[in-house]
Amino acid sequence: MAKEKNETMDKLVSLGKRKGFVFQSSEIYGGLNSCWDYGPLGVELKRNIQDTWWTWMTQLHDNIDGLDASILMHPKVWEASGHIDSFTDPLVDCNNCKQRFREDQLDDPDKCPNCGKQGTLTESRQFNLMFKTHMGPLEDAANAVYLRPETAQGIYVDYLVCATAMRRKLPFGIAQVGKAFRNEITPGNFIFRTREFEQMEMQFFVKPGTDMEWYEQWKQERFAYYPESLGVDSNKIRLHEHGPDELAHYAKVAYDIEYEFPFGWAELEGIHHRTDYDLTRHQEFSGKDMTWFDEAAKERFHPYIVETSAGLNRTLLVVMCDAFDEDDTCKDVRSVLRFHPRLAPVKAAIFPLMKRDGMPEVAHNIEKSLKSHFRVQYDEGGSVGRRYRRMDEVGTPYCITVDSQTLEDQTVTIRDRDSMEQERYLADNLATILHDRIDSWQRPAKD
Ligand code: GAP
Repeated sequence: MAKEKNETMDKLVSLGKRKGFVFQSSEIYGGLNSCWDYGPLGVELKRNIQDTWWTWMTQLHDNIDGLDASILMHPKVWEASGHIDSFTDPLVDCNNCKQRFREDQLDDPDKCPNCGKQGTLTESRQFNLMFKTHMGPLEDAANAVYLRPETAQGIYVDYLVCATAMRRKLPFGIAQVGKAFRNEITPGNFIFRTREFEQMEMQFFVKPGTDMEWYEQWKQERFAYYPESLGVDSNKIRLHEHGPDELAHYAKVAYDIEYEFPFGWAELEGIHHRTDYDLTRHQEFSGKDMTWFDEAAKERFHPYIVETSAGLNRTLLVVMCDAFDEDDTCKDVRSVLRFHPRLAPVKAAIFPLMKRDGMPEVAHNIEKSLKSHFRVQYDEGGSVGRRYRRMDEVGTPYCITVDSQTLEDQTVTIRDRDSMEQERYLADNLATILHDRIDSWQRPAKD
């Protein structure tokens, strides 16, 4: 079973490179550990995941606005947030093989998991995960700045400016997508844990006393989001409540949404009840009033914050693992990515059956008519069967073929990636037909 699971990851890593989804950064120099580049199809997939989240948060909720805060922030932000003192992992070194590990991830605290020697691990020491650099030409302590380890703090320090500009009343939310950096001791599992990654975070500001109700609501909404909006298998997600020794320094209650990756269950998104911890700390460290004035009650207080925090790259890994499938078609094995069509990098491929009799011209005209609606791809190389397979492998949900009948009655076939069935339609209405199919897509049942 474990072997099968590793094989699935190996296949995904290989497909990721071969088909231009994700591959090692700086590969011509031997790569840089845990850094990955998103190729032509990967960048489309990542954008589609981000756009789905952004639309869901800011367009489908009436009281959530967006923000794009700077990655570099005043260093006091990280003192106030507690990251300088508490954002640490326990690090141990092996005196024999010189590898480093997180003490809390060791099966046996006396045995090196790499070389297997007993008694070679050092005492653990706390290692701060923030990347430190310097602003300007002088590399002294006064100029130290940090690459943000979470996007959330940008929202907290800006919340009053945003809410005032948008004339908000409690409760309201602020959403942000952006890069975060953590000097992880043990990055790995492809793009699951990396040192540079992107987060999709939303901070929801509520009146104290209403906080647990909102917490429950966001937990349920975010849990339902993955099957409903991204088409993820609902049997492969679950909620995990943080015990007292798992809670982050800022959290009163926390649940993870976990996904069953080929390497086991692991966190995909965190839903955190952060109380008024961050706002009171920023008030203390900045000297600025971070309270909210409640017009109706004529009182001032620090709102409580419910946070939903998802990794964009990690969601992409979930989407790829969840979509990856191999069909035994008797003749051979069909490799297919069954993405929700909303997320698929290419929505439709257009094929002329033959490179003659005016079929390429008709197919190019269809391509032109669909371009302003979706990302589509024209392909006239090889047999139609091979062209279907190429599109299945990268998750293109629909293939449109122009054949000799098209020249007589202006109809084309649309072949469905999941059922492999073909249906004939008039070519002049294809954008509407594809839009309808994308909106009504259902995850194919597994036998
Ligand atoms: N603001 C709260 C926060 O950052 P977190 O649980 O540390 O909470 C939230 O991170 C999410 O960010 C995780 O559920 C995961 O999806 C993503 N994430 C965290 N560290 C990551 C890493 N090293 N590589 C990739 N994604 C990561």
